[in-house]
Amino acid sequence: MNFSPLLSGMKIPATLLLCFACVTAPSLAQRPQPKPHPTGPWSNTSLSPDERADLVIKEMTVDEKIALLHGVGMPTDEPVTPENAASNRGVGYAVGVPRLGIPGIDMSDAAYGVRSSGVNGRYSTALPANVAAAASWDTDAAYEYGALIGRELRAQGFNMTLGGGVNLTRDPRNGRTFEYLGEDPVLAGTLVARLIEGTQSANVIGDIKHYALNDQESGRNSVNITISKRAMRESDLLAFEIGVEQGKPAAVMCSYNRVNGDFACENQYLLKEVLEKDWKFPGFVVSDWGGTHSDVKASAAGLDNEQPGRFFYEQRFKDALDAGKIPQAELDEHVHRILRSMFAAGVIDHPRQRSVIDPFAGFETSRKIEEGGIVLLKNEKAQLPLSAARLKTIAVIGSHSDVGMISGGGSAQVDPIGGNAIKAPGQGATRWMEETWFPTSPLKAIQARAPHATVKYDPGTDPAAAAAAAKGADVAVVFAYMWASEGMDLKSLTLPHDQDAIISAVAAANPHTIVVLETGNPVTMPWVEKPAAIVEAWFAGSDGANAVGNVLFGTVNPSGKLPNTFPKSEADLPHPTITMPPPESSHFSGPASPEKWAMGLPPFQVTYDEGVKVGYKWYDAESKKPLFPFGYGLSYTTYRYSGLQVTPGDKVKVTFTIANAGAREGSEIAEVYAALPAAAQEPPKRLIGFAKVKLNPGEKHSVTVEIDPKYLSIFDEQKDDWSPLPGEYTIMVGGSSDNLPLKATVSLK
Ligand code: BGC
Repeated sequence: MNFSPLLSGMKIPATLLLCFACVTAPSLAQRPQPKPHPTGPWSNTSLSPDERADLVIKEMTVDEKIALLHGVGMPTDEPVTPENAASNRGVGYAVGVPRLGIPGIDMSDAAYGVRSSGVNGRYSTALPANVAAAASWDTDAAYEYGALIGRELRAQGFNMTLGGGVNLTRDPRNGRTFEYLGEDPVLAGTLVARLIEGTQSANVIGDIKHYALNDQESGRNSVNITISKRAMRESDLLAFEIGVEQGKPAAVMCSYNRVNGDFACENQYLLKEVLEKDWKFPGFVVSDWGGTHSDVKASAAGLDNEQPGRFFYEQRFKDALDAGKIPQAELDEHVHRILRSMFAAGVIDHPRQRSVIDPFAGFETSRKIEEGGIVLLKNEKAQLPLSAARLKTIAVIGSHSDVGMISGGGSAQVDPIGGNAIKAPGQGATRWMEETWFPTSPLKAIQARAPHATVKYDPGTDPAAAAAAAKGADVAVVFAYMWASEGMDLKSLTLPHDQDAIISAVAAANPHTIVVLETGNPVTMPWVEKPAAIVEAWFAGSDGANAVGNVLFGTVNPSGKLPNTFPKSEADLPHPTITMPPPESSHFSGPASPEKWAMGLPPFQVTYDEGVKVGYKWYDAESKKPLFPFGYGLSYTTYRYSGLQVTPGDKVKVTFTIANAGAREGSEIAEVYAALPAAAQEPPKRLIGFAKVKLNPGEKHSVTVEIDPKYLSIFDEQKDDWSPLPGEYTIMVGGSSDNLPLKATVSLK
């Protein structure tokens, strides 16, 4: 497919307009390898990235500067243009300055692994979905997650990731919930920072996205989000603030939507006031694909790079520069930000060299992260772990669990080895917004762990047949899934394909029924009382079946906790229905379409009047009991909390003891919340810290969590800053947002 028409003003089929990067092109003969090498005084590594960038800028022509500010069409466009001939066939490319040894910026999507590797004849590991990593609450795992992606990007010849998604789960029906890190800004921000650090450790330009408030996919290119400054700073923007401050990403991707009237990619408040001035972000801002809608306005706001084309940031930019509408210093500022980030990330000092990925190393990392992220939601009468020695017959039901496990779609999609597991060999290429199954078979994983049992498979398409398969088996394991993707929101949180009926029928037929969910989003469970056990396995990645097998049979003690609240029904959500765009805001037609697209579709309105009350803060404030609360997850052992001490200071210290009171080793995620003084008018509590602690049976540990003062503050719109409120704070500690046995009150000034 060819997206370059947008650049020249020709027509694009309306069906493609949801996403610029939603196609895969046929493979090409090997392209020339980029061969950058610093050739001037900027090669002096003892200088700072800023100094080095300025030395390069001195040598650059205006055209070279402008060339750094835009893409050259999708690198997969056919025919290949001389400009992107050296690209690596990702989704975005900026040509660099070959004359001065500055390499091109070769961008690939890499949310849970490097995207579109299959079409390029390459291999990538699929990690469990980002939401699964969030469920591990494990900062080291987040680093490993990012580092693996960084290594594989580099080995494939890319030097920039487009990962780092951290939009808050404001609406659990958002089709990209699996790509994000949950509903809480402290959890999501802390984890994305570590993920970015991991990726950048491989000398790859890191990214955080989609800045900001792109919290629904429906009408994402036109929607105008209205929200108060205080609410956005304390919710969605706080996740980005932590990510930028701690993770130091080289790049920020601005989102498609409008925020309080202006598109995010030309939004003075988001880009200039907050990102640049408040957070002192030194890197560059890249637009989401087709998210640039102006030259002068976007440039003044702080957009540095238009992707994937150059509708605004080439000739129009140059004309505006010549006419004095864009100052020369502003051009240099954009170039400076891009170059200093390239130096800082090490992409100039460490030129890419394609090499061979170790797929087995990837499998192990992927499996371990999944094992840490699986959440045990229910376990009546200690149904789990299973004891292989006691099982003679096992029924495995549903969700193609004989051959594979589902993955999340859209620009995050990773290509499975051997193709889509449910398709015939040779037919398995991944396609935009098509359910893609990884060849990791739960059936085989279960059989391998119970070699003497007879394991029967039923596809789970007919309730009566599934019940018949389950009846009489020692245990029935039902796999249920809900696929999701960029470019869509879920119509509801109900499992599709009549799976609720299948589960109910199986559970009625067999009291030892275990439900394993493969979802990126929370789902409703009208059958929740019926099965003996429920396990949330998310989109489980390349080796997901072994991770699930290890948890079911107890080789691994589950330790994940929900990063998103599971509501009882959509009626309990802040917005029971998602506002859909009117026709004129969702598509357009006619010959002038690309122009209209570039200029921006007419807005439609979504008001986030729930404000800061995202996720559990909403349920707490509205006294609505969810199905499963934020931070909830069971273990095969039990933990006891005691001895809370809160020590005021520059950083409040929260100290407590956790003991493993059961008979198995396990890891407990301890969660620390605060209720602010009443004058703050905040929801009843907010997460202010957490720690994951490994404990042997009988062992206990003293844990101290230091609290960032910001997490105990409110955002004061008058002062335009974070502001602590003097007064009584209640600090609460425990293993779930609805189970916090330790409480202490402390007076803070
Ligand atoms: C998505 C981004 C992605 C980009 C490039 C856009 O449609 O929103 O997340 O990085 O495409 O594929």
